[in-house]
Order: sequence, then structure tokens, then C-alpha cells
Amino acid sequence: MEEFHKVRRLPPYVFEQVNRLKASARSRGADIVDLGMGNPDLPTPQAIVDKLCDVVRDPRTHRYSASRGIPGLRRAQAAYYARRFGVKLDPETQVVATLGSKEGFANMAQAITAPGDVVMCPNPTYPIHAFGFIMSGGVIRSMQAEPDDGFIPALERAVRHSIPKPLALILNYPSNPTACVASLDFYKDVVAFARKNDIIILSDLAYAEIYFDGNPPPSVLEVPGAMDVAVEFTSMSKTFSMPGWRMGFAVGNERLVAALARVKSYLDYGAFTPIQVAAAAALNSDGAEIEEVRSVYHRRRDVLVEAFGRAGWHVPPPPATMFAWAPIPEPFRPLGSLEFSKLLVEKAEVAVAPGVGFGEHGDDYVRIALVENEHRIRQAARSIKRFLVSAEKTLDNVIPLAARR
Ligand SMILES: Cc1ncc(COP(=O)(O)O)c(C=O)c1O
Repeated sequence: MEEFHKVRRLPPYVFEQVNRLKASARSRGADIVDLGMGNPDLPTPQAIVDKLCDVVRDPRTHRYSASRGIPGLRRAQAAYYARRFGVKLDPETQVVATLGSKEGFANMAQAITAPGDVVMCPNPTYPIHAFGFIMSGGVIRSMQAEPDDGFIPALERAVRHSIPKPLALILNYPSNPTACVASLDFYKDVVAFARKNDIIILSDLAYAEIYFDGNPPPSVLEVPGAMDVAVEFTSMSKTFSMPGWRMGFAVGNERLVAALARVKSYLDYGAFTPIQVAAAAALNSDGAEIEEVRSVYHRRRDVLVEAFGRAGWHVPPPPATMFAWAPIPEPFRPLGSLEFSKLLVEKAEVAVAPGVGFGEHGDDYVRIALVENEHRIRQAARSIKRFLVSAEKTLDNVIPLAARR
């Protein structure tokens, strides 16, 4: 039987191959340090858990909830945007709660895409950015992920050479997987371009609060006029270590927010009310929990960069996110990121995410997630050091001479 139309467009998850190796190594008793998936390991702050437990005792909260979010939650998100970014949002028309930002993003794609619509998407990027649109019948035009001087010229080329003209541009800063951050000046240029060319901006700001060295990333909505063209997605998953709770938001342009809310009203009844109430309390809190989460990732980042560096693997320090985007050490680069990641599991007992899983332009890199504690990150660095030293002597067995530079 032939595969279904949509399923045929979803390639097998590259990360699955590393996961399988990891599982089989563990079943043989190996102690794998897992820096692969971006699944936060920190517990949700106790005050948020306590709030959930209090609210869940009230049977009135057990009914279907509100698909676009209870009013108190939407107000809390609007207040957060006002405090953090100086952006004023109407909680009635410019805020919708989502079941995690991933769901929000995918259903926004569903809401706005006609078959064949062209969407400009960074490569490499978090897979839902491209596949949300592919599943909705759209077509992807890959864009550079770095927000540098080449970005606007690339945008101009994309618009000039795409028929039909692109519907939307996806931005994701701080970026998963590259950890690139964008400045407000960059957003100003992109918003001006989008307004002039009538292009929708979808900004994924999932890592709004996971930043280091005192540089909070801006929101695209801080740019005057951005509200005419942009919608932005945020997530409670990383900010408050609530990945399993499934709570996120889309905010911004009223027409886009209304389109998402309309589609969602057919699909879901909203998150469980106690989750929404606890999420509102988290957003309304004084920010101490966010600071704590951020400082844990900061310390882990510093340990990673220092310990891996001493092991002989230079990893540029990420300015934000919970990821390091690490160039594959030179002698191994011809292997590509998937084979190198497999080798790391088998020979160094360390799991990372192969860069190619985020797009073809990620194949010279692996993504290292800061989801194990400092002690375990040091342990990973020690075994990588042993692996790199021994591989130097035995490299010919690993990489055919012909493939080496
Ligand atoms: C860039 C980016 N966007 C969205 C998400 C999904 O977050 P959520 O848990 O809110 O669905 C992730 C999760 O890793 C992410 O890295």
C-alpha cells in the first residue's frame, strides 16, 4: 500500500537513529551522558506546582476549558509583554494561549497556508518551522539562519525569485539549534521589508528568557508597526521548566491571532484549567524562578565550553538558549553529523543531536543540549577527550583515507 500523501512528506526523524543506538548502548549497561534532546531536566518551581495542586481540588476546574485561554492567563501574558518588552497587547484580541508553542506554530501554519504558498524558513532550524508548513501544503524556501548583513539581500532575492511571492518569513532568535541572537536593529530592517512587501512574520521566541551575559533578547513586536505584520510565539517550557505542561502563547497581529484562535476552536478545548491558572501565577510572579533557571543553564554553559575546550573540542559559547552549536572537530567533518553523533554514542558514551536533523546546512555541526548537570557535563568531556586522543591513532579505521581532507 502506498504511503499517505502527508506522511510521505515527513522524513524519518534523524534523531531516532541516535536514540536507537543510545537505547541499545544503555541496555548493554553503558552510562550514556545524554545531551541530545532539548528536554529540560530541571523540576518546575515548587510554587507553580503548589498552585496547580490547589486549583485541581476544585471540581469546577475539571470541565472543558477555554480554547484560546482563560482571561486571567491572557491578561498575565499581556502584562509580561508590557513588563519585559514594553509592548502593549490587548488580551482580548492580540493574545491566544496554545498547547505549547509547537502546537501554536503548527496550527498557525494550518490556519494561514493555501496549497503551494511559499514560506521562507531558516536552515538549519527547529523542525516544526518547516514541517508545520509542509504538512499544511506549503512550500519551503530555505534562508540563512544568521541574522547578519547577508540576511536582507537574501530576503530580497527570495522575494524576487519566488512565484508566487512568499506568504511568510519565519524568524527564530535566539535560535534553536544555532543559538544566534538578533538585535532590535535587525528586526527593524526585517519589519520594514515585510511591511513594504506584505509578508507575514512568524517569530519564535521560545528562548526569550534563556540568555547569558546580561543581554536579554528583544521581541520583534518592539519595532513600531510590527503589529501590522507579525505574530510571536513564546513558551513556558524553557522559561519556567514546564515542558510537560504544554503551555505557550501566540501574540501580535489581530488577524493572525484570530485565524489561529478560529482553527483551535475546532480542534481543542484549551489546556486543563489548573494548568492555565498555575501558568498565569508563574507569569505574574516576580521573576525569581526565571532567574534561577537561567543561572543553572549559564553555569552549565560555562562548564561545557571550558571542559570540552580542555578536551580538545572548541565549542563557541552560546549567548542564549540551552544549546551549544558545535562544529564537528576537523578530522571527523567528512563523516557528516549523523555518523559523527553515532560514533560519539558508541565510543564516548555521549549523545548529541546531529546538525543535519535541523536541515542540510547543519551537517557540519552537532547540537549539544545543556540538560545534564555540571558533573555529568564534565564526565562527558573526559570521555570525549579519551575518544579524541585514541581516534587520532586509529582514525584510519573510522574515516576512509579517501574521505579525509
Ligand atoms: C525554537 C523552539 N520553538 C518551539 C519549541 C517548542 O516548545 P513548546 O514546548 O512550547 O512546544 C522548542 C522546543 O524545543 C524550540 O526549541
